Amino acid sequence: MMHNPYLPYPVDVRKITLENEAKDIKTFELVFQDDADRERFAFRCGQFAELSVLGAGECPIGIASSPMETEYVEFTVKKAGVVTSALHDLEEEVSIGVRGPYGNGFPMEELEGSNVVIVAGGFAFTTLRSLTNYILHPDNRHRFGELTVIYGARTPGELIYKYDLEAWAQRKDLQLHVTVDTEHEGWDGLVGFVPTILSQVAPSPGNAFAVVCGPPIMIKFSLPVLAQLSFPASRILNSLEMRMKCGIGKCGRCNIGDKYVCKDGPVFTVDELQHLPQEY
Ligand SMILES: Cc1cc2nc3c(=O)[nH]c(=O)nc-3n(C[C@H](O)[C@H](O)[C@H](O)COP(=O)(O)OP(=O)(O)OC[C@H]3O[C@@H](n4cnc5c(N)ncnc54)[C@H](O)[C@@H]3O)c2cc1C
Ligand code: FES
Repeated sequence: MMHNPYLPYPVDVRKITLENEAKDIKTFELVFQDDADRERFAFRCGQFAELSVLGAGECPIGIASSPMETEYVEFTVKKAGVVTSALHDLEEEVSIGVRGPYGNGFPMEELEGSNVVIVAGGFAFTTLRSLTNYILHPDNRHRFGELTVIYGARTPGELIYKYDLEAWAQRKDLQLHVTVDTEHEGWDGLVGFVPTILSQVAPSPGNAFAVVCGPPIMIKFSLPVLAQLSFPASRILNSLEMRMKCGIGKCGRCNIGDKYVCKDGPVFTVDELQHLPQEY
């Protein structure tokens, strides 16, 4: 029988990790109750899902774990309103719903064989963390070129995935540049906004893709730096966070011009975005 696309898969919340000092970002490790559902939920980096909490509703959240992780899926959620607060109130071992995976995700076939430059700010790092861990997986690393990750947050306490950052810092097959906006006691890493660090690191555009996710102000100032470094607009990828409802191209809630962000996106090249009406 065909699966009803509006019907969420039941999942158990196996682990909840508080990610930041402000205590408003948590990562949820979810395990599918039925193995067949996990198989149906085959996803690629950059896709998202609708998470649902009974009595609160559902909301779109990017998939934060790597597709190589088959036992569980992870989502990192910032407390923003009704549904995200209900998620934050959950305890481990309860059940919620997951609908998806949705969206186009990153063009992995094109990224393979290329150098990848990841530019991320704040909690929008989620799907890029998925991409980074996917590339770093022993089965995949040889299929990609150089990997550069530039990631920043306002303060050291707001950096998420510190456990990954520590593990990545030990690796020789990844150039990691972690920065915070201003000086902080006890922080001896980079200090400066992401676009500034990006221009200092100056990654080469040769055979490279840049993937940029973050707050609008970070994107606004990072794109001209990438242009200055001669990254073509067709090789800069950006993931949009429009308001959504159905997630499957039915309700018309997320469209920009003739594109549905939930179906045609959320990942677009800057070149594609330049040809869309400025409604995002
Ligand atoms: C493709 C996609 C991927 C996303 N990935 C993540 C993620 O990985 N982690 C995460 O924490 N959030 C993510 N978001 C944003 C998340 O969907 C919203 O924060 C969530 O829908 C808010 O729901 P709520 O019921 O808690 O808030 P509501 O009660 O509906 O609204 C609370 C506030 O949040 C604003 N808001 C609601 N929806 C959005 C939205 N889509 N974008 C921006 N502001 C919104 C409202 O204007 C209001 O100010 C993603 C959104 C999209 C479209
Ligand atoms: S969210 Fe319904 S069409 Fe995109």
